[in-house]
Amino acid sequence: MSSDKNVMRLFFAIWPDKKAQRVLAENAWHFAESTHGRTVPTENLHMTLLFLGDQPKELLPEILVAASKVRAPSFEVVCDKIRYMDDHQLVWSGVTAADPALEELRLSLAEEMKYAEITYDKKRFKPHVTLTRKSLTAPTSVDFVPTRWKVGGFSLVASNLEPEGPRYQILKNWSLLPPKPRTSDKIIKLAATALF
Ligand code: 2AM
Repeated sequence: MSSDKNVMRLFFAIWPDKKAQRVLAENAWHFAESTHGRTVPTENLHMTLLFLGDQPKELLPEILVAASKVRAPSFEVVCDKIRYMDDHQLVWSGVTAADPALEELRLSLAEEMKYAEITYDKKRFKPHVTLTRKSLTAPTSVDFVPTRWKVGGFSLVASNLEPEGPRYQILKNWSLLPPKPRTSDKIIKLAATALF
């Protein structure tokens, strides 16, 4: 990571609501204990959508304009599995079957960044929330409470590396569009129109 004052380490992310944050934090405590690791501080728990990495500060206005063009519906995220990444010594909670709107949001962000010629990490997207770091062993059991929350917006975040760990600063939030109606809702609406 660069210590250059002219660059910012940036990423787009979604933040859990208060209830989901509490459940994730409880899971983090549980797994930190069983893996001799460190919990990610509660206020830092998040799901990264697109990692931009170190960017020149002068590009920030362009990044903000590009992100404001993103159009994607709201959705629900469900973190329902636990994984141990031994190469990175971390435990994360991931998503088995992501709502297509999550992928749509990431794709829309990636497209807008590409169009604005902003570089980003193109590694395959694995939606997850990191719960612990410096975990020396895999969890002995993956018993945990799944977490779900409604995602109504996304954020651009700056990561500042401090001696005690990264400190995240939300630079801007954007709202998502209303959720897409589910097929079952559409059928009910059609049936109601036919009846009345
Ligand atoms: P992680 O939680 O799995 O480490 C800030 O670093 C956020 O960006 C973290 O959520 C981190 O994921 C994510 N991220 C994605 N790609 C990254 C990369 N190449 N380097 C560092 N962090 C990355």
